Amino acid sequence: SGSGLPLMVQRTLAKQVTLIERIGKGRYGEVWRGSWYADSVAVKIFFSRDEASWRRETEIYSTVMLRHDNILAYVGSDMTSRNSCTQLWLITHFHPLGSLYEHLSRSTLTRHQMMLICLSIVNGLLHLHTDIHGTQGKPAIAHRDIKSKNILVKVNGECCIADLGLAVTRQHVAAELTHNPRQGTKRYMSPEALDQSMNVRCFEAYRKCDVYALALVLWEVTRRVAPAREHRAPFSELAPADPSFDDMRKIVCTDNARPAPPDDPHPTMVGMASLMRECWHQNASVRLPALRIKKTLLKLAAADCA
Ligand code: ADE
Repeated sequence: SGSGLPLMVQRTLAKQVTLIERIGKGRYGEVWRGSWYADSVAVKIFFSRDEASWRRETEIYSTVMLRHDNILAYVGSDMTSRNSCTQLWLITHFHPLGSLYEHLSRSTLTRHQMMLICLSIVNGLLHLHTDIHGTQGKPAIAHRDIKSKNILVKVNGECCIADLGLAVTRQHVAAELTHNPRQGTKRYMSPEALDQSMNVRCFEAYRKCDVYALALVLWEVTRRVAPAREHRAPFSELAPADPSFDDMRKIVCTDNARPAPPDDPHPTMVGMASLMRECWHQNASVRLPALRIKKTLLKLAAADCA
């Protein structure tokens, strides 16, 4: 070959990946389990109408050194043309236990398992939210679509955060590059996003929205600790299956409703209940930053072991 590169290197990544089985399907497109040489990979195939999400996720993963145990690991992106139809692929590590949503639907948890799940999610969110300077540095990133379906469960019992298709950095916010035809998931939208009182030009405001959504995820996880209740999406008893913006605004802003935290008197669960109340507070400015949430969880975990 002319370039002197081995033929394999010239091929696109997508051509090296074999799709094995479809493991998910939704409004975003599809997810497949595939193989890439000796590795299992997950391939997310975006609908071409959601090209903005593919572009943003690819941009974030390829410009930012984002390697963290609690962030889904990136393998590569590819844009290919198949019978004049554009295919957008995002290739990542594969996690056989699937999403936290699926895991909670299948399994009840010990307090220890609950803690590992919650701490690892907060650790991932803290890494995203933090500005790190230096050569291995990264800008602060807000996720904007935190929910149990966008969190994956690893075989070691920890979780990792996936789907950076709506994510923004301070630079994106400053340059008003926050627009995406896709919105965050309405069920997990913060009161200030729902009543449109949020300052969309302020990066910090997006981090506060992530913390609100995180609190709802913590609630979903705590429900599955013995004496476990059935897994439920937040607001399932108040909102219809695919709630509209107005449905959620009435529930979250007008009625100021929140899920009922566990009423287990165990000190760890009492601590979890008070933590989620602080994180889904109507007033975004009093919600805890990710570092404070992590420290609170570490304290609860240490007391539970003592
Ligand atoms: N579902 C969505 N992304 C996935 C992944 N990376 N591994 C397993 N299941 C997934």
